[in-house]
Amino acid sequence: MTPPPIERVLFTEEEIQRRIRQVAAQISAEYAGRELKLIGVLKGSVFFMTALARELTVPVTIDFLGISSFAHSQGAPGLVRISKDLDESVEGEDILLVEDIIDTGFTTRYLLQHLRGRGPKSLAVCTLLDRTPRRIVQIPLDYRCFEIPDRFVVGFGLDYRQYYRNLKYVAVLNPEP
Ligand code: IMP
Ligand code: MG
Repeated sequence: MTPPPIERVLFTEEEIQRRIRQVAAQISAEYAGRELKLIGVLKGSVFFMTALARELTVPVTIDFLGISSFAHSQGAPGLVRISKDLDESVEGEDILLVEDIIDTGFTTRYLLQHLRGRGPKSLAVCTLLDRTPRRIVQIPLDYRCFEIPDRFVVGFGLDYRQYYRNLKYVAVLNPEP
């Protein structure tokens, strides 16, 4: 299968790296003197999480959650289910949920509920992309690299039918070439 073509680059590799460095500096300052566990969501947030982790100066550990989303009819909120749980306990730890994109907010809300139930000392959210025009449920967002318009994007972990995750940049996809 040939995925549909890229329409235009939204954020270049350099812009993304620069912005990640800024956000990482902010996180490192706010967590100074503490340890931070990054929780990545498979598979989309892996690319952002590794880039972010490399720029953090506080001691960092990582773990992953896997999720499956079941989209309902068009426009209806999808259901989310954990398909791979954390490997280790987060009880009493400072944890940062690392997301690729927050769209309607349903996925993040579900993950926050799941993580809160595990008794962390603190829980914050960091996302590469934030698409506020489509938000349905409000979620507390602590760190965000970029706000994006209401267009479907790929790259830096984000996929179209599993393609394009490996792009070094974030791009708008043209669904009907
Ligand atoms: P939410 O539950 O609506 O916030 O959806 C978040 C999830 O939808 C993300 O983790 C992505 O997997 C997926 N998603 C939403 N928008 C896009 C996009 O523009 N490109 C690729 N995946 C997206
Ligand atoms: Mg996806």
